[in-house]
Amino acid sequence: MENTITVLSSPEEVAHRAAAEIAKIINAVLIKRPIFRLVLSGGSTPKRLYETLSNGQYLQKISWDRVHFFWGDERAVGPNHPESNYRMAHEALLHQIHVRKNQIHRMRGEADHLKQAASDYEEEIRGHFGPGAGNIQFDMILLGLGEDGHSASLFPETDALKESHRWVVANYIPKLASYRLTLTPILLNQADWIIFLVTGSDKAGVVAEVLEGPRQPLRLPAQLISPVKGKLLWFLDRAAAEALKERTGIIKTTLCQTPH
Ligand code: 6PG
Repeated sequence: MENTITVLSSPEEVAHRAAAEIAKIINAVLIKRPIFRLVLSGGSTPKRLYETLSNGQYLQKISWDRVHFFWGDERAVGPNHPESNYRMAHEALLHQIHVRKNQIHRMRGEADHLKQAASDYEEEIRGHFGPGAGNIQFDMILLGLGEDGHSASLFPETDALKESHRWVVANYIPKLASYRLTLTPILLNQADWIIFLVTGSDKAGVVAEVLEGPRQPLRLPAQLISPVKGKLLWFLDRAAAEALKERTGIIKTTLCQTPH
């Protein structure tokens, strides 16, 4: 499968270009289907994208009342905690676009039993798609990338990487001495579109390793993200892309300026 990698001049350009692409995809899908299922991520680069999507230009461009929001991962905290991925998305985007409660499908990071919260979330996903749904797949998944190669809360050498049947797990992360809820690659890879957003020179090494290095998914979990039938897009700023070699045929790299 071919990755499409778009390299832009700055983190702001990444947010604008990704927002324009996401708006285009949502609108195209909503012509054919009544709702769009979007999976959000935590992290500073996705946050900049949400803030961009919530500005006037995209408020008008997207039928937000037909978008359902899910999360790719959540920390073991309540929805009002400063570390909550739900809270971040709420403040940066959901609050501004006035979505209805039933459009928001958040993970219960505050639960006493996170394993139960993980299986409840899997049930919520199944219930949302309904019994008649064939293959359960999200329309779009947004992801960030950590310096250690993690994405969602799929951290190096953790149990979730070896999960063979569950879609949502409570993953223990030794280096954080904490559990996090995360979707597993089994479900993530069913999506129609998976979009990575990565900026900053501190990510340059890991971006090159994930995209061009040998396959070592237990060390670099982002390498597990490979849509079965969907498309994989990477939006990078110049700093995050500086260690890529641009091997023609495997990646398409463009340096572009988005009008906004
Ligand atoms: C989280 C995530 C995580 C994040 C990356 C990148 O909850 O933190 O979902 O996978 O996207 O760590 O985060 P930054 O963009 O802040 O580096």
